[in-house]
Amino acid sequence: MVEKLTGLGWGGIRSASVEAAMRTVPRHLFVPDATLERAYAQDSVVTHRDERRVAISSASGPGVVAAQLEQLDVQPGHRVLEIGAGTGYNAACLAELAGSEGQVTAVDIGAEIVAEAREHLAAAGYPDVRVVQGDGHLGYPEGAPYDRIIVTAGAWDVPTAWREQLAPGGRLVVPLRVKGISRSVALELDGEVWRSVSIEERGFMPMRGPEAIGEFNAELPPKRGMWIRADDGLPVDLQALGAAVDTTPAQAWSGVVVPWVPFDHLDYWLAGASAQVCRILVSSHAVEEGLIKPLYSWGSMGLYTHDSFAYLIRRPAADTETSGGAETVELGACAYGPRATQLADELVSRLQEWEQAKPHRAALRIEVHPAAAAPSDLAAMITAEKRESTVFVISDQT
Ligand SMILES: C[S@@+](CC[C@H](N)C(=O)[O-])C[C@H]1O[C@@H](n2cnc3c(N)ncnc32)[C@H](O)[C@@H]1O
Repeated sequence: MVEKLTGLGWGGIRSASVEAAMRTVPRHLFVPDATLERAYAQDSVVTHRDERRVAISSASGPGVVAAQLEQLDVQPGHRVLEIGAGTGYNAACLAELAGSEGQVTAVDIGAEIVAEAREHLAAAGYPDVRVVQGDGHLGYPEGAPYDRIIVTAGAWDVPTAWREQLAPGGRLVVPLRVKGISRSVALELDGEVWRSVSIEERGFMPMRGPEAIGEFNAELPPKRGMWIRADDGLPVDLQALGAAVDTTPAQAWSGVVVPWVPFDHLDYWLAGASAQVCRILVSSHAVEEGLIKPLYSWGSMGLYTHDSFAYLIRRPAADTETSGGAETVELGACAYGPRATQLADELVSRLQEWEQAKPHRAALRIEVHPAAAAPSDLAAMITAEKRESTVFVISDQT
């Protein structure tokens, strides 16, 4: 498992300390119901589901764990707070990194999950990790201040409690959801303002509890193997969108031809559209049955209104043969419903703007200001007003 992660380059293990921690912690003891093969595969291992069979706890995939640990940069002697203890696996890795002089506290909202994490940690030889039940939105003031805070479930907001509980010079790593787009962001404090140090493309299950804003996640009726996932607690008219699937789709091609590699920050560009951003997820069965192929095997980012939706599609670019063997694709949009043409055109124009702005994408950064003191004149690509904070996604382009 570790060798695969050290070989990955982007997003994998980069430091000797994270490599040593992940080589040391016996992952299978944290997922006792999984086979050894499953425990050491690259996927997450789901351990709890709610009554609708939606996953609510898991051992995150080892690549996700490694990426977040690299972002967190734990040093020996650090006091670390983990929000989302889950199986306890990540807490054990944190204990390895913080060493015998350090202290790891892990919080989870589920009582049963907390009991299991404690058992796993004891069995694997980490009895000093403290696991407590509570709502991680409030942090865990009893153990503050922390040199590092890591969140392992998708957070919609950055609560004030995390700022108050971080020691000077500390760092927070959090999967931050902005307009339905999730990125693991490492943040450091500059006065009361969080500024990003790194941004990694990682998806997480959303945080739960009374303070949480949930994600909408449902299959379009009647069940055709297409799901819509929307954020920000916004309404989704499932019946109207389900009816839209019966209409003839509109397709539009952008003329944007790119090498077939992950598209950094394209999602944030889409979020600048006037319609809401969503994810359309598809089953392989639906694609085989003739659904127009989305960008990735899981689906695509898209846009939706109350009665129409659109998602990104691709086709081999005409010049693939002549591009020296590298696969290139043209990006486009497929849309359904009464507003199909309008939504497809909107997606395509966002793609074209993204293409023009490409040289500036590397400069992307995130600032999180207290809601009460957010500047009104910050030139940002996205301004997302949350309850306790305002999140700005900024690029030099804007
Ligand atoms: C992806 S799992 C965490 C994986 C874990 N770090 C591991 O190594 O196994 C996300 C966890 O966050 C927990 N969670 C969700 N909302 C929470 C909240 N408001 N406070 C604390 N924990 C929460 C869930 O119960 C779940 O166990």
